[in-house]
Amino acid sequence: MLTAALQEFPEEKWVQGDIATWQAKTPFDLVFSNAALQWVPDHTALFPRLFSSVGEGGALAVQMPANNDTPLRQIAFEVADNVSWRHLMQPALTALTEENPSLYYDALRPLASRLDIWRTEYIHVMDSPRAIVDWYRGTGLRPFLEALKSDAQRESFLKLLLSEYTRAFPRQRDGKVLFPFWRLFVVAYK
Ligand SMILES: C[S@@+](CC[C@H](N)C(=O)[O-])C[C@H]1O[C@@H](n2cnc3c(N)ncnc32)[C@H](O)[C@@H]1O
Repeated sequence: MLTAALQEFPEEKWVQGDIATWQAKTPFDLVFSNAALQWVPDHTALFPRLFSSVGEGGALAVQMPANNDTPLRQIAFEVADNVSWRHLMQPALTALTEENPSLYYDALRPLASRLDIWRTEYIHVMDSPRAIVDWYRGTGLRPFLEALKSDAQRESFLKLLLSEYTRAFPRQRDGKVLFPFWRLFVVAYK
């Protein structure tokens, strides 16, 4: 990703780092994160720390998935609770951090001059329930699949998941499947 960024914008400075420990040496006008902070734990501490790298008049702007209460995540949790692999799944259940708006409000409101928080539901039109599984394999399903011990287990997990997604995401008249995906936006101004 950084290689591609460097190729496209060679005049910019690109630095690899861990968000969990990153701190600006001098304040930035904008600290921006798209679809990454869900992989970093403890948002009660993380968000104020990132906000501390924003200079006066600047902003912290974050977008993250917010699907804990949706069929996408709920079904993955249910399938993870299967007796065959429940004992392996603890790290997968906590690998993604997707908190409610109230946590971000409480963490940032005392520090920010203005705070905007909103959630948007994106309706993706997919070819099939399998297309949802295939897409989700590349992101939120990874911790579940990594927790399993063999390809056979992973296959069984995905088969159960597909059968539940097929029930939860029915076909439209034209055969397509509507796949709602929620995203949370937090913009805090200093
Ligand atoms: C869904 S991608 C989003 C990438 C990019 N921000 C975008 O919008 O296309 C999530 C990214 O978060 C990165 N990531 C996850 N945990 C991280 C951490 N602790 N520090 C830095 N990057 C992290 C991953 O390497 C991955 O590139």
